[in-house]
This record gives sequence, structure tokens and C-alpha cells, in this order.
Amino acid sequence: MNPLAEELNRIIQETNPNLMDMLSGVGKHLFFPKGILSQSAEAKEKANRLNATIGIATEEGDIMHFPSVMSSIEGLAPKESLTYASSFGIPALRSKWQELQLEKNPSLVGKSTSLPVVTCGITHGISVLADMWVDPNDLVILPDMMWGNYNMIFSVRKGAKIGKYPVFSGQGGFDVSGFEKQIRSQSKGRDKIIVVLNFPHNPTGYTVTPEEGAHIAEVLSSVARDGTRVVAIIDDAYFGLFYEKETLKESIFTLLCDRHENLLAIKLDGATKENYVWGLRVGFVTYGLKINGEAGPALEALERKTAGCVRGTISNASHLGQSIVLKSMNDDRSKAESKDKFEVLKERAIRVKEVLADPKYQDAWDVYPFNSGYFMCICLKTVNAEELRRHLLDKYGVGLIALGNTDLRVAFSCLEKDNIEELFDTVLKGVEDLKKN
Ligand SMILES: Cc1ncc(COP(=O)(O)O)c(C=O)c1O
Repeated sequence: MNPLAEELNRIIQETNPNLMDMLSGVGKHLFFPKGILSQSAEAKEKANRLNATIGIATEEGDIMHFPSVMSSIEGLAPKESLTYASSFGIPALRSKWQELQLEKNPSLVGKSTSLPVVTCGITHGISVLADMWVDPNDLVILPDMMWGNYNMIFSVRKGAKIGKYPVFSGQGGFDVSGFEKQIRSQSKGRDKIIVVLNFPHNPTGYTVTPEEGAHIAEVLSSVARDGTRVVAIIDDAYFGLFYEKETLKESIFTLLCDRHENLLAIKLDGATKENYVWGLRVGFVTYGLKINGEAGPALEALERKTAGCVRGTISNASHLGQSIVLKSMNDDRSKAESKDKFEVLKERAIRVKEVLADPKYQDAWDVYPFNSGYFMCICLKTVNAEELRRHLLDKYGVGLIALGNTDLRVAFSCLEKDNIEELFDTVLKGVEDLKKN
């Protein structure tokens, strides 16, 4: 094992030995290399005559660049856009993101959390976490309705065993007792489980109430207290898009990050959806854990392992993407812009509810609970979801996502408010067409 990894492991072991048992084989071996990076950093400080360390090209004291490239990047210098960012992410972006997360999640203030490490979108963040915390045959427990990419990352790429917990009970909210039953039974006899939580949820658009959130947190804490190590991965991709009074308005990370030494909470979030910059690929990984004593060194060790994993996968996330996001977050307009877009999406969600309250749809489908995010789902009563999807596309030019035999996902995030009724009326027509055939 590399001595730098050994040193990080020693720090982690001394601060919270449970963490060492949660890390995967790869996670134990990860470190952030010194070599070229630290020599370059030293040269940056002291090589004031000639610096021939960095793997980029310079010219006349500036970053070498094509004017034909820079003409598309107005407002950022080549050194803020074309050069490499650190594998940890731009320091100012990491601090700004942390500051805003504390603002949006006031209960995090005073808790032991790491500085966010930048990833190439949340997908890459999940992949990095899978490298660090998941070994083949580890059990990853996912929601039974879920974003399909979890399966690709945890099962296909990592060879993890997949378990499920139910999202809904049919009683109108999150299935807390189903969650408890599944988590307790699947963790029995296991040293470690990895649980993925995602609110606002893809595909249903549901976010738990404070009571449901507290129950989930208590179940995971009690499993941890009973001796199973719990890695809770909290996918906050759609964080902040909460449209109703009764939903939990802070991340469930706040309820888990300081609960028990045997429970590691990891928050994944990103500018992707929060700042409406899907293709700029800026995501973040933040750790929260309960530690007796000084948490800083262990958190820093986890950051270094995470940045090492970023370095070993993509080297670093787009400097241009990070700089654009940082500049926007520091711009006085950004809070008002964010509020404006939130209101547009909220109006659409409210319109979906108004339209679906019409009893004319009653025989065709049930509506799953939703109160947040981009999506909502309906459960078809009489026709097959995939057949209907194809029919709607072929006959009416309407595109929806079919999930399993009965469910259709509607992304109201990309529907104008005035088109929402037309969409559901068309789906109803489609159902009637198929029933006639
Ligand atoms: C639940 C969930 N997590 C993660 C992602 C991916 O986010 P990113 O585009 O930042 O990789 C998505 C959406 O595409 C998602 O729905």
C-alpha cells in the first residue's frame, strides 16, 4: 500500500475505526498523490525565474490559447477556464458551495462536515463513492422506484448485491414501515449496508415530511447502534425544489450526519439541477460523521481519498464549468434568478395537481404522491405502460417515460403550464384508443 494511503488510513483509524471497515478495498488504497502535483505547487510558490513544471503550455506570460476558443468564453480569462482545476475542485467554489449549503440547511451549522469535493456532475460523484465504499457483493439498498443509473453504477460496474425498500405504501406518503422492515431484515447478519436516499425523488417527485424523515433517520441510526455499519448516500440532485408546506425543507443529510459513529452520511448535490446547468457537469461530495473529539483530520483524510479517486477517474472536473458556476453564485442576481425559476416549476407542479384532480382520469390511472422536483408518476389501471408510451409517441407525438408495466413518468419540468391539461388529456385519449383495440 502507498505510504500516503497508509497515513490517511492511520488518521481515519485513530478518529473513527468504523470508517476503516466501511471503506472498500479501493477506498483503503486511495490517497492523493504528492509527486508532480506537490512539486508543481512548490514551484508555483518559489520558481520566480523559470517554471517548467506544469503540464499545460504558456506563451508570453499567458496561457497558450486559440482566440477562436476564447471568443466563445466571454468574461473568463484563460487561466480561469482553460487550465486544469485542482482534483478537489476550485477552492473558492468549494467554500461558496459549503456556505450556501449551510444557508439552505441551517441545522448543519456547527456539525462536523467536510468541505465539498467537486465531481463531474452527481453521476460521477456516485461513481466515486461506489469506488470508495462499495466492494463486490456488498449490499446496496435502493428505493424500489428509482433513477436507473444507480443500477448501472452499483450493480453492473461494482458487482454489488442490490436490495430494495418500498417508496410508497398506498397510504399517500412514504412507506416508513416498509422502509423499516426492509432495512432491518436486510441488515441482519451484515457488517455493512449502503443505503441510497433521494429526495426530491426521481421518478416520483416525492419528498418526505419531517416526521417521515425523522423515522428514516431513526431506523438507520438504530441499525448502526445494533452493530451494522451504515453508509447513507443522500442524492440531493433536485435539492430545494420543494413546493408544499409539509415537506422536509432541509436535506435528510442534516438528520443523519451526526447520528452515530457507525453511520456515515454522504451528501451528493450539484449545480446541475440546483443552478440549471446540466451540461456544465459540476457536482459535489460532502461527508458528515459523528466523531468523538476533533473531526477535522478524518474529514480531510476522506476529502483527500475522494480527490484521489477523482484524479484517478477524470483527473479533474471542467475548470470552465466550475468558474461559470462560481461566478454566477457570486453574482448579485443569482438568488433572484433561482427564486424565479423555482416559482415557474412550482406553478407547473400546482397546475399538474389541479388538472389531475378532475375525476375524468379516475378510471385510467392513480396518481403517485408528489410535492417536489421535476417529475411525477401515474399508475395505469387498464393498459400497459410501454404500449401506451409507444402509442402516444406514434399517434400524438407525445413523449413520456414508461417504467415497468404500469407506471408513466411525466417530467413537468419541461412542460409549459398551459400545455399540462393537453398532455394529460392526450394520455387519456391514448388509454381509450388502446382499450378499443
Ligand atoms: C436522482 C438523480 N441523481 C443524479 C442525477 C444525475 O445528475 P448529474 O447530471 O449531476 O450527473 C440525476 C439526473 O439525471 C437524478 O435524477
